[in-house]
Amino acid sequence: MFIRSIHLQNFRNYGRLDLDVGPSVNIFYGNNAQGKTNLVEGIYVASSITSHRTSKDSDLIKFGENEYKASLDLTDDDNSNIQLSACYYNERSGLSKNNRPGRMLVIDNAAVDKISDYIGLCNIVIFAPEDLNIVKNAPAYRRKFLNTLISKISPSYFNLLSNYSRLLAQKNAFLKNIRTTDGLSGSVNEQLDFWDFSLADLSADIILKRYRFTKLISGIAYEHHKDISGGKENLSIEYSTIFGIVGALETFLNKNSKYDVFMHKGLSEADYGRIKGILSDLVLAKLKSVRNYDIDKHISSTGIHRDDILIKLDDLVMKNFASQGQQRTAALALKLSELEIIRMFVSSTPILILDDVFSELDKTRRISLVSAMKNAQIFITCTDKNMIGDEIDMIRGDAKTEFYCVSGGEIRKES
Ligand SMILES: Nc1ncnc2c1ncn2[C@@H]1O[C@H](COP(=O)(O)OP(=O)(O)OP(=O)(O)O)[C@@H](O)[C@H]1O
Ligand SMILES: [Mg+2]
Repeated sequence: MFIRSIHLQNFRNYGRLDLDVGPSVNIFYGNNAQGKTNLVEGIYVASSITSHRTSKDSDLIKFGENEYKASLDLTDDDNSNIQLSACYYNERSGLSKNNRPGRMLVIDNAAVDKISDYIGLCNIVIFAPEDLNIVKNAPAYRRKFLNTLISKISPSYFNLLSNYSRLLAQKNAFLKNIRTTDGLSGSVNEQLDFWDFSLADLSADIILKRYRFTKLISGIAYEHHKDISGGKENLSIEYSTIFGIVGALETFLNKNSKYDVFMHKGLSEADYGRIKGILSDLVLAKLKSVRNYDIDKHISSTGIHRDDILIKLDDLVMKNFASQGQQRTAALALKLSELEIIRMFVSSTPILILDDVFSELDKTRRISLVSAMKNAQIFITCTDKNMIGDEIDMIRGDAKTEFYCVSGGEIRKES
């Protein structure tokens, strides 16, 4: 799949932008603070709705305005065309019906209600300086990486997550308002039973997907990491969730010789039902065991909302000891795995965005990246176009690289 044109309205420092782009490599250069990251953020938001650098949609609206719109005209691998538009408005916007902020998603002029019908239509992988957070920062960054990847492939996973977040928010609001003296009353327990039962049921489905994808990422990232780093260290990724869950899942798969089926084809309905039952019982037992504590502290202290993935180099967790260079290599290996997994599951070729990272990489890493994306459309931002090097021409051969100068929220294509 490739983008033919990008349209932004009141998005960050762009008042209005209508830009045709090439199907191969597009390089955006310019001084600091001119709008390079804003442009690629606009592309990413139009495809994936969330931004790679803020979770606040209102940050994306141009200062002083009330709504933004980001649209892409795309051509798929089978030559069909599609247009995607994501719009977000604040409470002052004319689009707001009840003085509340909101979102509008449009596919080919038809509004869509469900986010899960929209994401996944155009898959973009972005590699930006913020990605180092996946390796070195808090678990939330790693959960976001995993959740984003699985959601792109499986809209049902996105729906599971949304349902889980909604129920957890309701349960937390309830916990916040409980007076500790109510702790043991029957009605409080009954209410919490309802939430815990529903959360445990959703947790089991989410755990099964997270476990499977973590294993997949681990195998693929291990290979990429070996290629990039010259094979000196071993990268692995492990799923870390509520104590005892991974053990129970692996015991079930190994005892029934179902590991390969689970990883590659998916379990039969009967086996899925059995393992889901085992996992949801374990989650429920865990939630009940911390109930008094949670009532006392007014929080949900345990659950898959606290999950993590452990990124290890030779069995040591990287976040605690890795150097900048090791972190950068691991982050690149993770991004290359993301690309490869999307390719495995989705029929159209994903698009790659490299925000401010290409010129930072050495020759080996640049070659790894460009080779992994041989036929795909790539967007690269940098401050100096002469820093790009000749790896792209080397690998892409005749494919035309286009250059664009970005200055003060305007873009001029070089002819
Ligand atoms: N909501 C907004 N409305 C208007 N301007 C904004 C908004 N958000 C950010 N900006 C401004 O957009 C400008 C360009 O930001 P951007 O991050 O795209 O720069 P850049 O070209 O990527 O620079 P660098 O080379 O430093 O990465 C900045 O001056 C920033 O303050
Ligand atoms: Mg930038």
